[in-house]
Amino acid sequence: MPRISPAVLKLAAITDRRLPYLLRQNNGNISEAKQELRWIKNELSSSRSINMACWLRFNAVPLQYVLKSQPFGPLELSVRPGVLIPRWETEEWCIDLIENLPDNGPDGNFKSLDLCSGSGCIGLSISHARPTYSVSLVEFSSKAIAVLKDNIERLHLRDRNIQCIQADILKNSESIYANEKFNIITCNPPYIPSDEFVKECTTSVKMYEPRLALVADMEFYDNLVKHWIHRTESFVYEVGDIRQCQHVVNGLSHSNQWVTGIKYDSNNKARCVYGYQTASASGVDYGKIFSSFSTDRY
Ligand SMILES: C[S@@+](CC[C@H](N)C(=O)[O-])C[C@H]1O[C@@H](n2cnc3c(N)ncnc32)[C@H](O)[C@@H]1O
Repeated sequence: MPRISPAVLKLAAITDRRLPYLLRQNNGNISEAKQELRWIKNELSSSRSINMACWLRFNAVPLQYVLKSQPFGPLELSVRPGVLIPRWETEEWCIDLIENLPDNGPDGNFKSLDLCSGSGCIGLSISHARPTYSVSLVEFSSKAIAVLKDNIERLHLRDRNIQCIQADILKNSESIYANEKFNIITCNPPYIPSDEFVKECTTSVKMYEPRLALVADMEFYDNLVKHWIHRTESFVYEVGDIRQCQHVVNGLSHSNQWVTGIKYDSNNKARCVYGYQTASASGVDYGKIFSSFSTDRY
């Protein structure tokens, strides 16, 4: 946390008496604090609620929890404590994926499954963009499931073909949507190893975002290779680092049925591991769906 000089504090207070409260979370940068105050004023009407928002921000509560929403592609999602705030990295690959999804599968029934759904940002974006798809979601946290259901209402998706259930995907995976097969499984699982969480995450993340949404290592990638892979023709899993990609790629390397690859984000960090069957029974052209995804192929 940088020290903020009295001169900067004074200048901020002259501009708006609430601005000094926003400097701390904006690294002492007045123009960023001003931008944040504009966002707060745009969203909240009474000066009491604006004052409260600035006080919460002074205490490192994430802006998205204060304003209770977060944009994700064309959607404005509801978020509150207990659910992870969707990140730009996820939004980036999700938009790329959706752009290349077919209008529907050859048999008219494209089935997508989003695991670890949180607010529903991935699954609901797919349903929003492809109204005829069947979209199933699974989430373990009851607080997150409540937000996901609010988002279905908020985004007017209640008449779409959407199912969501609360379950632990690491246990009895086979019993979740038992006997169903999917065209694609998407997942942004918890993937930050616990020592990294302690050392590298910001105070705001550690204090206010759910640890359940963030901390894990290889568990969910292992679970994909052992339990979900037989139930899908393709998958995209977000990752925190290249080791997690390699774990999945190695897990599938014995089979010549899978093409796998890594998608990098615009910061040039490995961001997703993905794969699709070389010969799909449904006739979907997965090569086309993932055409914008990779530079690296295994
Ligand atoms: C990284 S967050 C992703 C949330 C959302 N998909 C997104 O991209 O913002 C991971 C989510 O997985 C959920 N989760 C953690 N362990 C789980 C488990 N064993 N089974 C199902 N969901 C789990 C968390 O509650 C959290 O909502």
